Amino acid sequence: MLFSSFDSLKEKFISIFDKYFVANLCKIVLLSGVILYLASIFLFKDSNCSSYYELLESSNNNKSPQISHFISSNDTNPTNLNHIVFGLLGSEKAWHYRKNYIESWWKPKVTRGYLFLDVPPSGNLLPWSKNSPPYKVSKNITKLVQETHHVAPIMARMVHGIKEIFDQEHEGVRWLIMGDDDSIFFLENIVDVLGKYDHNKYYYFGGQSEYILSNFWFSFDQGFGGAGIIMSFPLAKALAEDIESCLRRYPFLNSADLITMTCIVDLGANFSPLKGLHQFDLRGDISGLLSSHPKAPLMSLHHFDATSPIFPSMDRIQSTKHLMRAANYDQSRMLQQTICHHRSSNWTFSVSWGYSVHIYEKIMPRSHLIKPIQTFSAWVAKPENPPYYMFNTRSSVKDSCETPHLFFLKSIGETWNRNEIMATYSRSAVRRLPGCPIGGNHPANYVNKIQVYSRRTKRTEMDRCECCDIIHTTGSNKAQLKLRECLTNEKIA
Ligand SMILES: *[C@@H]1O[C@H](CO)[C@@H](O)[C@H](O)[C@H]1NC(C)=O
Ligand SMILES: *[C@@H]1O[C@H](CO)[C@@H](O)[C@H](O)[C@H]1NC(C)=O
Repeated sequence: MLFSSFDSLKEKFISIFDKYFVANLCKIVLLSGVILYLASIFLFKDSNCSSYYELLESSNNNKSPQISHFISSNDTNPTNLNHIVFGLLGSEKAWHYRKNYIESWWKPKVTRGYLFLDVPPSGNLLPWSKNSPPYKVSKNITKLVQETHHVAPIMARMVHGIKEIFDQEHEGVRWLIMGDDDSIFFLENIVDVLGKYDHNKYYYFGGQSEYILSNFWFSFDQGFGGAGIIMSFPLAKALAEDIESCLRRYPFLNSADLITMTCIVDLGANFSPLKGLHQFDLRGDISGLLSSHPKAPLMSLHHFDATSPIFPSMDRIQSTKHLMRAANYDQSRMLQQTICHHRSSNWTFSVSWGYSVHIYEKIMPRSHLIKPIQTFSAWVAKPENPPYYMFNTRSSVKDSCETPHLFFLKSIGETWNRNEIMATYSRSAVRRLPGCPIGGNHPANYVNKIQVYSRRTKRTEMDRCECCDIIHTTGSNKAQLKLRECLTNEKIA
C-alpha cells in the first residue's frame, strides 16, 4: 500500500465487500433454484463464484491415465501427469520409514514410475503398501562393476537405474524424473513448469546444492539427485542407450549425480538449474529458507531426515503431511512470499503461503525480505569464512527490529462460499524481545492468529509476486490478510 491514510478506508471497504457483497451474491446464487444456479455458471463464468468448478476440472484432468499412453511423442497436447515417469532410488533398510515421505505425494495408480530397491522388501513391508510406488529390485550389475573395477558399486547401481526405468516405462513419456526415496515432489507444479518446455528437445534440469562447497566438490553443473533430475525424452533415451558404455568410461567417479552429469554432457546437453527444485544440503531449522522461497514454483523438497521438523510442534512425518494439506489446496502459491505493510503500526507482514507468516515491527522492503534468515546450518563443518550458501542470507541474531514474530500454518480450508482459500497461522512462540524503537515501539506480542485469504484460482504467471491488504484493529489478537494482484507500479517498500 502506498498511502497509509488510505489503509483503514481500504480495509473497511474490503471487509464490507467481503462480508456482505460476496457473501450475499453467492448466497442468492446458491439458494435461487436450479435455473438461476445453472444460469449463473454461464453468466458469471469469470466471476469469483465459478472458480470452484474450474478447480474441480483441473484436478480431474490430472486423473486421466487412459489416453496418453498411446499418443505418439510428437503430439501437441499440453503436458499432463501422464507424460511424466518417476524413477526413485532407495534401499530396503531406509524404506521402512522413508516410505511416509513418498506416500505423502505419490498418487497410487495415477503417478507413473517405480521405486528401485537394492534387495527385495521384507518384514513389515509385505504385503507391499497400495499407497507406495510399485517396486523393482535393481539389476545385478556385479559383472560390470568387477570388469571396470568401479570405485563406487552403489553409485553405479543408481546410475544404471536410469536405463532400468527407461526400459520399463517409455510409452508416451515426455519427461523422466529421477529422485531419492526421501524426495518430496509437487506434481501439479512440475507439470506446469515442464509444460512450458519442448519435450522433444534435449533438456537436463535439476537443483544445485544450497551449500556452496558441495557444488565445488562435485560440480556446479550437476543436478543433485535428491532434488530430482529431470530429463526430456530424447535425452533420457540417449542416456539409457549409452549408460553402460558411460559407466565403463568413468569407473573412477564416486557419485551418482556426477556420473549422470558427465554422461549427459558427453551426449551434448548441459545442465539448467530450476529454482523450485531443492536438494536441501542444510541442517537444523530450515524455516528461514522456506519462509523466503525464490519466486519460482515449488517443485521438490529433500533431506527432511537431516533437518529439524519444518513445523515446530510436529514430528517430521506429521510436518510433511501438514505441508501437503496446503499443497493440495493450491500448489501454485505454495511457499510463495507475499509482503504487505500495516502503516498505522509500522508493521511488515511476510507470508510464505501454506507455511508461515512473519511480523516485523518496522517497515521493511521486499528487497530485504527475500533474503532468507539464516536459521539453518551448513551440511558439513563449514569453513571459517563465508561464502557458505548459494544465496544471500540475513542474520538470525536476536534484534527487536530484525527478528520477526513467527507464525506457522495451523489449518487451511475453503471459505464457506468456496471462492477463496483461507489459511490460518498461529504464533509458535513468544518473541521475548522489547518493541522495535525504529518503528515507533508498537509491539506485536498480542497478535496470535493470522488468517490469509487467497483466490481459488491457480497462479501460473510468475513474472511478478502478489500483493496483500491487511485488516487489523490495534489491540486485536487477530490479523487478516487478503492476497491480490499488485497494482501497476505498486512498491512493496
Ligand atoms: C550377482 O551376480 C554375481 C555374478 O555376476 C553373483 O556372483 C552374485 O551372487 C549375484 N548377486 C545376487 C544378489 O544375485
Ligand atoms: C513509523 O516509523 C517512522 C519511521 O521510523 C516514524 O517516523 C513514524 O512516527 C512511525 N509511525 C508510528 C505510528 O509510530
